[in-house]
Amino acid sequence: MRGIQILLFLLVFQAWATGQSDSPHGFDQPYRPQYHFSPPQHWTNDPNGLLYFEGEYHLFFQYNPFGDEWGHMSWGHAVSPDLLHWQPLPVALPEQNGVMIFTGSTVDDVANTSGFCTGGKPCMVAIYTGHTPESGSHPALQTQNLAYSNDRGRTWTKYGGNPVLDLHMPDFRDPKVFWFEPSRHWVMAVSLPNEHKVAFYGSANLKRWSRLSGFGPAGATGGQWECPELFELPVDGSRGGNRWVLKVGLNPGALQGGSGEQYFIGRFDGKQFTSDNPASTTLWTDYGKDCYCALTFNGLPKNQPPVMMGWMDNWQYAAALPTSPWRGQMTIPRMLSLRTTPDGIRLFQEPIDSLKQLRGAHVHAANRTIQQVNGEFQRSPVVKSHTYELISSFSLGTAQETGWRLLSTNGSVTIVGYDRRRGTVFIDRRHSGLTGFSKDFPARMQAPLKTPDNVLRLHILVDRCSVEVFAQDGRIAMTSLVFPPPGTHGLEAYARGGNAGSSSATLWELR
Ligand code: FRU
Repeated sequence: MRGIQILLFLLVFQAWATGQSDSPHGFDQPYRPQYHFSPPQHWTNDPNGLLYFEGEYHLFFQYNPFGDEWGHMSWGHAVSPDLLHWQPLPVALPEQNGVMIFTGSTVDDVANTSGFCTGGKPCMVAIYTGHTPESGSHPALQTQNLAYSNDRGRTWTKYGGNPVLDLHMPDFRDPKVFWFEPSRHWVMAVSLPNEHKVAFYGSANLKRWSRLSGFGPAGATGGQWECPELFELPVDGSRGGNRWVLKVGLNPGALQGGSGEQYFIGRFDGKQFTSDNPASTTLWTDYGKDCYCALTFNGLPKNQPPVMMGWMDNWQYAAALPTSPWRGQMTIPRMLSLRTTPDGIRLFQEPIDSLKQLRGAHVHAANRTIQQVNGEFQRSPVVKSHTYELISSFSLGTAQETGWRLLSTNGSVTIVGYDRRRGTVFIDRRHSGLTGFSKDFPARMQAPLKTPDNVLRLHILVDRCSVEVFAQDGRIAMTSLVFPPPGTHGLEAYARGGNAGSSSATLWELR
């Protein structure tokens, strides 16, 4: 009798749990990221409208509610208490009357400057690009528009006075809006993709905008400029004053081919951005192929450093990724800082601190040879994981090349290494598993990296189909998708052309 009761309970519980699932498909398909955001089903590209509002992190994202290819662009929506566990919500801003909802941002209108907020409380306002595709009778049109929510982003109303900014142009998009306290006005950075320019506009109420200035062309201009982002950061933990970072997406023409992003460091006075470097300087935010249209969160508490998150993909092959029933995912949220290096001030990126909450079983080896590290790792069950965090520090010794072979099995491997002769850190995914779905996917991506102390420090995140590398405390970020054969988890440190010196490494399974 008791056995039947337990069985009944289990059946009822299973039915309940299935009903709770966010998609009819669950989250355990091959390649399904476990601690990176991906929509339960269908297509996503850029993150949009990142905002911390009343205790919740909001992630909106370019979304096709009807399929796993780009189209019917709308804003999907998810919320999280910690930037790691995401609860999917219904589509926030759907395509309507033939106008797609392209990339944009959201703000917390604390003082009700827009007049949209009710009940004496702040409200959320979205500023997005409305995209009307070209048709027989008219050319394409991109304009800037508003929508607002008075219930913590659960329901949205498009503003009746849209568009709020219309230059009658087919390419004019991706507004990033934030409050600039010193002049007490809203600032919009918005892209003129074909001119390779970011235009800045100012507004007191989000509804009427006037042009402040423009920046560009500068740096890399081999493709359209998209997804501008502007934020302020202390230099060297505020010992070196503050600087502004203007980040711009480039598609195609990025360093590793296809889409990628560059940044400029300079000053912003509320009207105009002035770069510290000559227009010929090009700085890349991420040296992998798979980080695009990254955005920072608006509304973070004052004491929190900016957090940025990107689309983990590349327009060269986004439509061909071998995943189902979803296509597209986000990078790990990254904490940003500016630090002085021998080359000048540079952007550093590290995974958010709260990732530590996900750490489960671990194995640690300190001051060993590479062979001893491998020996200790192989004795631990943690090495069987394909969802993990790995932190290592290798003294280069006499080795010409050293690093990790990841997600390996007979015949396939992803290599993360340091090539001493070239002075580059690299991810080689040419033999990582499934690569043939696009001629642009197999790649060896590399970044210049100096190691004056002859120590290579790597922080690596693996999540089934992705490898994110943060080298030398975040000086270099590299993001790469990989599609290894199912169940692949081989992991070992290696050195070539000599011996590495004292090596330490810790591997955590991430839950
Ligand atoms: C960048 C982008 C944006 C645009 C959106 C459309 O990936 O092309 O410029 O707003 O995607 O989905």
